[in-house]
Amino acid sequence: MPPEDIQRRCITPSVLYPGTPVVLMTTLNDDGSANISPLSSFWALGDRVVLGIGEQGQGCSNLLARGECVLNFADATQATQVEAIARATARTPVPDSKRDMGYVHVRDKFALGGFSRVESVLVAPPAIAECPLQVEVALLASHRPSGTEDQGFMIVEGRICRVHAHEAITIAGTQHIDVQRWAPLIYLFRHYVGTTTPVARNFRADDPAPAAA
Ligand SMILES: Cc1cc2nc3c(=O)[nH]c(=O)nc-3n(C[C@H](O)[C@H](O)[C@H](O)COP(=O)(O)O)c2cc1C
Repeated sequence: MPPEDIQRRCITPSVLYPGTPVVLMTTLNDDGSANISPLSSFWALGDRVVLGIGEQGQGCSNLLARGECVLNFADATQATQVEAIARATARTPVPDSKRDMGYVHVRDKFALGGFSRVESVLVAPPAIAECPLQVEVALLASHRPSGTEDQGFMIVEGRICRVHAHEAITIAGTQHIDVQRWAPLIYLFRHYVGTTTPVARNFRADDPAPAAA
């Protein structure tokens, strides 16, 4: 379509979630049990990750108190399990604002979502065994959003300490993720979507190029 024919308009969306991965953040509660907090406000560059985490959630308190988490990336088959824990918070009592949104206190989200714990190597919180990509993270810094108004969330910077990948999504004998087989679960304007086969390759992609047909 010629650019002059493209129609556009100004909108005010209630959220701006254009499509980011569903991350299940595991942290340790005060009593040493493990919690799972679904997140989608995530990006990574180099050995750093940045998260946006609501201060009323238990995961935020746990991360700030103990300085460690594991970011477990759900795959496209796990949407039902993620949604099963979506209304649950490990915080008790449940803050009024969360209760009004329908949240309830659940102590064991592993049981609720049908997930299993697997030990981490460099951090205390366990990873989620069923998530194909698990990233151990150490907290480096956190601050409230800049500006005047308290928006109720923290911007958190962490250092990637260790990455675990299921063999099934790696290219054997290399450090690469097989993008033909890794299908992350994407959070898209509060809907869950999977991804299809890759449509193109960036000029800096360094995994082995598929053989020409
Ligand atoms: C798919 C999905 C994505 C979410 N993304 C975020 C997010 O990026 N940041 C956030 O603070 N909460 C996010 N939430 C809401 C938290 O999961 C929710 O606050 C929950 O209470 C956290 O659990 P906790 O209180 O036990 O830590 C998301 C929820 C779902 C289901």
